[in-house]
Amino acid sequence: MAQPQIKLYYKNVFADVIGDEHGITTNQFDDLAVLTSPLIARLNKQKEEEDSSTPYRKLPLRKDIRDDVKDMAADVKADCDTLVVLGIGGSALGNIALQTALNPFMYNIDDKQRSGPRLFVLDNVDPAQLASFFDWLEDGLGRTIFNVISKSGRTSETAAQLLYVRKLLTDKLGPDACKKQIIATTDEKAGTLRTIVQKEGYRSLIVPDRVGGRFSVLSAVGLFSAEMCGIDIDALLAGAADMDAKVSCENFKKNPAAINAAINFHFYTRGKKTSVMMPYSNALKDMADWYRQLWAESLGKSTDVKGNRIERIGPTPIRALGATDQHSQVQLYREGPNDKLFTFLKVKEFNGEIETGPAPRCTSDLDFLANIKMSTLLNNEKLATEYALLQDRRPCLTILFDKVDAYTVGQFICLFEVTTSFAGALFNINPYDQPAVELGKEATFALMHKPGEYKKGWTYRDFADEIRSRTDIDEEFLV
Ligand code: PA5
Repeated sequence: MAQPQIKLYYKNVFADVIGDEHGITTNQFDDLAVLTSPLIARLNKQKEEEDSSTPYRKLPLRKDIRDDVKDMAADVKADCDTLVVLGIGGSALGNIALQTALNPFMYNIDDKQRSGPRLFVLDNVDPAQLASFFDWLEDGLGRTIFNVISKSGRTSETAAQLLYVRKLLTDKLGPDACKKQIIATTDEKAGTLRTIVQKEGYRSLIVPDRVGGRFSVLSAVGLFSAEMCGIDIDALLAGAADMDAKVSCENFKKNPAAINAAINFHFYTRGKKTSVMMPYSNALKDMADWYRQLWAESLGKSTDVKGNRIERIGPTPIRALGATDQHSQVQLYREGPNDKLFTFLKVKEFNGEIETGPAPRCTSDLDFLANIKMSTLLNNEKLATEYALLQDRRPCLTILFDKVDAYTVGQFICLFEVTTSFAGALFNINPYDQPAVELGKEATFALMHKPGEYKKGWTYRDFADEIRSRTDIDEEFLV
């Protein structure tokens, strides 16, 4: 049987389908091809440069990383019933997305459906959630591995979780437990977490140089939990490598990432500044969450590639889920402002299936739902929503999955990462930094009483005073 694939379907963005006022005309599409084509060669060249800004594109071929991940997993898997990932943002969302996409819905609950440890990704510091989790974990603590992931090693949320876990392991299981049960994934040489690894003797994996969090899912960041939980990481990387070849194609009309980015860019410039990704598949729902971070953090920028101030740029990504959100969002999507581009994710062959039963004799109202496959209903709901949106002249893209497996998920990840690179180039911004996130991180340090200087002549204490002057509750406005 042929290898399952994903494909981008883009007919329903054209003026022929939704009219000139909202659709893309053939001439406009040709202009987009002219604008985007040179970027393909530019991105291909960038990929090969020694100090490339896109080293993420080489990850699918990094056998060294794959081997390290497999060796580490082989070392710890037999003694591990529960794997806990500590991380946030790009150090967590890929792990969650892979697990939701590629393992069964009841993976953590049903031993029959598990081919590895239970997986929990703790990507917040909500005390109630953590208290409940660690309360549950108590008896199983000795057979738990903690994978703490932080590229910088200085992210407060992840660092605070690590401090708690160190204390817990040491108090409950003795001084050597951390060395046995903590695996740190961080920068190879620099950063606080690397220092802790070296001084306290934890095992570790590497976040490759210059690969930012949201582009790191195909490094040890995402691969370790995937490998532990029985996901075929070879197929995942093979799918990504296959897509990387497709998105390197210098013929615009055969390059799905270039077309995807060009269409997104075009609609943004015409006032459709919101991008809704709507999978009709629960397996893909967290892939849409992963995409949301990738798109938002990469493209929301106020300076161009040279650092000059520009008119602020930023398509707003929204995650929706079909059919669930038909009953929550579609009223807005059809009758609200026509300011959105929709990207559906549709699956041909699902990884499980059930059929409804016979209709009750007392009424013929439900006959049309009798003895049908749920996949038929779900996929027809996608068509129904798409049709309804097209009636209101809303542009729609679809990513068609032959099926959701490691190979097609690898393709999807690569497609959207490279689409983001193309979009960054079209907007003339740097999609690989996140300066605006840094301010919040530094402000947290200040409020948490970090000592020392924040900026020249300005201590963290001064900074905390400034923050409080803007954020302390003013009773006058409290009702
Ligand atoms: O994409 C990014 O760069 C961010 O979302 C980071 O992944 C996130 O802030 C966590 O950073 P770190 O891995 O350094 O703890």
